[in-house]
Amino acid sequence: MWRRPLPDLHFLWLAYSTAVSDKRALTSVGIHDIIARRWSPRALDAEADVSETQLRALLEAARWAPSFGNTQPARYLVGVRGDDTYKRILDVLAEGNRQWAHRAGVLLLGCAVTRNDKGDVPYAEYGLGLASENLVLQAVAEGLAARQMAGFDADAARQVFDLPDGVEPLVAIAVGVRAEPEVLGTDRDVERENAPRVRVPLDEFALRDWGTPAF
Ligand SMILES: Cc1cc2nc3c(=O)[nH]c(=O)nc-3n(C[C@H](O)[C@H](O)[C@H](O)COP(=O)(O)O)c2cc1C
Repeated sequence: MWRRPLPDLHFLWLAYSTAVSDKRALTSVGIHDIIARRWSPRALDAEADVSETQLRALLEAARWAPSFGNTQPARYLVGVRGDDTYKRILDVLAEGNRQWAHRAGVLLLGCAVTRNDKGDVPYAEYGLGLASENLVLQAVAEGLAARQMAGFDADAARQVFDLPDGVEPLVAIAVGVRAEPEVLGTDRDVERENAPRVRVPLDEFALRDWGTPAF
């Protein structure tokens, strides 16, 4: 009996991904929904709160990240809109980041413990990166969004938080509820918010040998 051939599922997945959201990751095969839906908006709702349970979930997700020899180098200063920690984090952000990040419900300052009583902590920055990605993905799972920022004054952060030697502030993270891009104000900012996300193609990214695509 003649059967209609099955459609190419990868193609269907790609079409579906494109249809449901312009910002969703475009992939040649399906990936976990939380990873596909993560992106870094600047347009956040200045009225919406991050609940304490959500915030705890974000930090628990980060706390359970892997690290070199289980050295657990990641630490976060946690500011909630209206409190003093939030204000201090906002104050050390670069102007361009402050302009949008002031709408976040939560501002975090991610620090790496690069030295402890045993000496230098190997892969401390890598550990903070792994923890922060856990945090950001948990934010997506909570219906929130997060944008990481290297644009802040690290010396000022060290000073206002009186950070000890061996603790490096490396990344600020704005967490909140997404808003319409128009909250950003200028046409340029709205355009940037709506711009498609781009990535290195898989054949440059995954290699069997240097210069030889794995797929
Ligand atoms: C370590 C790090 C530093 C970043 N610094 C900034 C920053 O200072 N300001 C900003 O607006 N975005 C910043 N970003 C966000 C990136 O620009 C964004 O993640 C990248 O363009 C990819 O977009 P996507 O996260 O939406 O996929 C930073 C991201 C990372 C991981």
